[in-house]
Amino acid sequence: MQADVTVVILAAGLGTRMKSNQAKVLHCAGGQTLIRHAVDAVRAIAPPERIFVVVGHQADKVRDNVGDRGVRFIAQTEQRGTGHALLCGRQDLETLGGLLVIFYGDCPLILPSTLTQLVARQRDSGAGGTLISTRLREPTGYGRVIRTENGNVAAIVEQKAANHEQLAVREINAGIYCFDANLFWSSIDELTPNNAANEYYLTDMVEILMKHGHVIQDFHVKESSELLGINNRVDLAAADRVFRDRKVHQLMLDGVTIEKPETVTIDSQVVVGIDSVIEPFAQLRGDTIAGERCHIGACSIVRDSQLGDDVVIEPFTLIAKSKLERAVHAGPFARLRMDNHVEEGAHIGNFVELKNTKMGAGAKAGHLAYLGDSEIGAGANIGAGTITCNYDGVSKHVTKIGEKAFVGSNSTLVAPLEIADRTYIAAGSVITKAVPEDALAIGRARQENKEGYAKRLRKA
Ligand code: UD1
Ligand code: CA
Repeated sequence: MQADVTVVILAAGLGTRMKSNQAKVLHCAGGQTLIRHAVDAVRAIAPPERIFVVVGHQADKVRDNVGDRGVRFIAQTEQRGTGHALLCGRQDLETLGGLLVIFYGDCPLILPSTLTQLVARQRDSGAGGTLISTRLREPTGYGRVIRTENGNVAAIVEQKAANHEQLAVREINAGIYCFDANLFWSSIDELTPNNAANEYYLTDMVEILMKHGHVIQDFHVKESSELLGINNRVDLAAADRVFRDRKVHQLMLDGVTIEKPETVTIDSQVVVGIDSVIEPFAQLRGDTIAGERCHIGACSIVRDSQLGDDVVIEPFTLIAKSKLERAVHAGPFARLRMDNHVEEGAHIGNFVELKNTKMGAGAKAGHLAYLGDSEIGAGANIGAGTITCNYDGVSKHVTKIGEKAFVGSNSTLVAPLEIADRTYIAAGSVITKAVPEDALAIGRARQENKEGYAKRLRKA
């Protein structure tokens, strides 16, 4: 990070080509909005108070989305082009001096190391500015880099303005620039909207600075995948793929086994400890942290959750906003809906749903249960078919089950309810009142056997 670098990220456009009601930079790739990716990338080169995001369409939402990063904002209420976006920030930016890095909020894949190199190339080069270029097999839509006979950059020509010959150029402007800030601001008044789109093109600054005798150099980046600009949903899917590939690649290098890595979906910010194994089609999303030696089964989805070491998630299990301590075993086909805390060694088996439930260490709910708004003591055993009736149609109520309690199969526990430690609940019971310590509760009709009844019926 360098104290004299200012960054401006352009993010005011709607992104017409996305065909969306949501501003383009709020769409997600790799599990995070495009604008957050962009802001995170530039944190490597400038202090937060020198990072500016130009907002316009859905400005409040964009501000909220990156507000926690401590960056500043520039309002561009009417979008009259990429050059106009800079003009809107003139008051805040003009006096900062140093180096001015500009890039677009729809370019989320850029690597911090590439930005650092861009700044290094511009610094002490004596050039008016440096821009990142790359060569694409399919350059349609991008501004083309036009060179003089001796190979220097002469201009950037936009797709719409390019002639036949220029359209054939496969070298494009990535839209990432580093200018000498004072030179930039002293010439920006010369931008005009003299083009088919009637917009102020930032790219025209190249010719303007050259006209004043400054050199614009290019920093040619061979690996074009990090320069992908997102204009439509096809680009969005392509960027998502790159983020996913990067993430699994890094995790594997860091000691995580991933089976069929091309099938798993892991968000950028997810952390996984060494010797963990991730099976095909698993998804780890949001702020998920998994410890060491965890096993994430095929087709399971874990979102915003913390898994301790040695946690085993069997296939087809959904876990959201929950904390699972060391050696918890969950699934297959379990659902931990939200706000659950499962302590060490507990087991949640197939077709068990947990919501806002705390399960003590070593407690077990092996099959077919709903445990909502409940507190289950250590070592308790919850039989198949147990249901906590937590909702009376108006409000939610708590069920407390003590340590080492044994809840028989198919029990209906009507909350609010307290079942004390070391109790037994007879199978098939409907329990509506508190059960004291060490008691057996039976809440069902007694069985009656009518001797010979079946035989008599058959004769008749
Ligand atoms: C731009 C470049 C093009 C380059 C390409 C790289 C210009 C004129 N063209 O084209 O040379 O090859 O990016 O991806 O700069 N924005 C604003 N305010 C505006 C207009 C745009 O904030 O008034 C923002 C948009 O929200 C977007 C970014 O600037 O995030 C780029 O705008 P976009 O319309 O996508 O530019 P391109 O046509 O892709
Ligand atoms: Ca674009």
